[in-house]
Amino acid sequence: MTAMGSTMTEDSDLARPDPCCFVLFGATGDLAHRLVIPALYNLAVSKLLPDPFAIVGVARRDVSTESLRAGFHKGLREFATQTVDDAIARGLFEKVVAVSADVADEGSFERLRDELQNSESNWGTKGNRLFYLATPPAAFAPIANELGRLGLTQQEDDAWRRIVVEKPFGVDLASAQHLNEQLLQTFNEHQIYRIDHYLGKETVQNLLVLRFANGMFEPIWNREHIEHVEIRVDETLAVGRRGKFYDTTGALRDMVPNHLFQLLSLVTMEPPARFDAHTVRAAKAAVLSAIKTQTPEEALRNSVRGQYTAGQAGKHQVPDYREAENVARDSETETFVALRLMVDNWRWAGVPFYLRTGKALAAKRTEIAIKFRTAPLSMFQTMPVADLADNYLVIGIDPVERISLQFNAKAPGLSVSIRGVQMDFCYRDYFRAEPKTGYETLLYDCMRGDNILFQRADSIEAGWRAVEPFLQAWRNAGADGLQFYAAGGDGPDAAKELLARDGRRWREAG
Ligand code: BG6
Repeated sequence: MTAMGSTMTEDSDLARPDPCCFVLFGATGDLAHRLVIPALYNLAVSKLLPDPFAIVGVARRDVSTESLRAGFHKGLREFATQTVDDAIARGLFEKVVAVSADVADEGSFERLRDELQNSESNWGTKGNRLFYLATPPAAFAPIANELGRLGLTQQEDDAWRRIVVEKPFGVDLASAQHLNEQLLQTFNEHQIYRIDHYLGKETVQNLLVLRFANGMFEPIWNREHIEHVEIRVDETLAVGRRGKFYDTTGALRDMVPNHLFQLLSLVTMEPPARFDAHTVRAAKAAVLSAIKTQTPEEALRNSVRGQYTAGQAGKHQVPDYREAENVARDSETETFVALRLMVDNWRWAGVPFYLRTGKALAAKRTEIAIKFRTAPLSMFQTMPVADLADNYLVIGIDPVERISLQFNAKAPGLSVSIRGVQMDFCYRDYFRAEPKTGYETLLYDCMRGDNILFQRADSIEAGWRAVEPFLQAWRNAGADGLQFYAAGGDGPDAAKELLARDGRRWREAG
């Protein structure tokens, strides 16, 4: 992991990655335009792209190099995180060639191989190849297979070959295991980069630094001092036009085994002895596999699933989820999920982890709130312990990247009057960082061969293993237990009850 996002001055000390050819599958798709190309552009601006560099854009439909370049340029103007310098953009796009290839179209991968080899010799990229699969998941294994069949993925002494796979990685444990097996027929584990865009977020990376570069947190980072942990990813966005994908996926699969578990593992992992990909990823996988497996009864009791109905979310008037494009009119898919999980190890025994995520909620709010145990007694006669404000350490990820500490202080005056106060560290106040897509660090790291921020097969499988009981229990329960909530609200009431049962409540915003 580099210090990509910290400040521009620090980034300018970084080295360019080795020359390479970036083979972008799904080149005409939304992900390529919205994130991959703007991130490559930002790297070009920071002079952190390989030199030489080439891009082979692969699309299933026929597309000319000219129109692909023009499409990238148009997309960049729409999605760039900084003002576009046309000269830099042109310099980047002149390295693009388009190829039409489809696994179902015999001979098309041979065409891709020829174009790739042409680009490599035109630009002198020395045989290093990054295959980036910004495609629907069903295409991952077939593409890897074809590349393998043509010998394009074979790592050579002086040339590396890597593959980046987007989420979702499988739809359950069995399919994730199967996909891993299929990829491993062509690639070695160290060549596979399973991307989770949450790991490109600055505050998420900062969790490691917060925990392990400061001496003051680690001694209290355990069940002795922490009462519970809340991990929340509330979105105002509704399903929009993603109904086809979302209705067969749901909030749990879409967000929990990947994004929320990334946050969970960074909060709960044991201190790694070294800051290298093997050690850090092993520590994350170990804690994910310590998540307690729930019986079907426990899974029902410890989960809430909701679906939004019409309402006003953020600036948008949202129709019923079931009215959305490509969503079944009697859909039982959850757009909200809340879970109560336990991590079965010495550090966390007895500490509940409450996770929640949902669409069409009142506000965008992504944060981790660590609630500390209350003071054992109050020496202040006027104030019983129960009336003291809660002690929280809050790691805010969205909309504001910040870390804040909530504690009690004496209000000014002659009497001892106690008030809850908040001390805030906001990223933007300390660091002059250009806005980014979040993909820059990830792309840079994989071109450098550093996979610390990418998911290893065992972590992915541990994540699916932990959510499997919920998926099964819900399947068996059918529509029973699906709660409805109005778009623009705080989610189903049952989510409040999940904590109220334990005598707790979700942390209020602010
Ligand atoms: C994606 C999910 O992986 O993450 C989306 O598929 C979700 O449904 C998005 O909206 C949330 O990402 P972020 O960075 O906006 O929290």
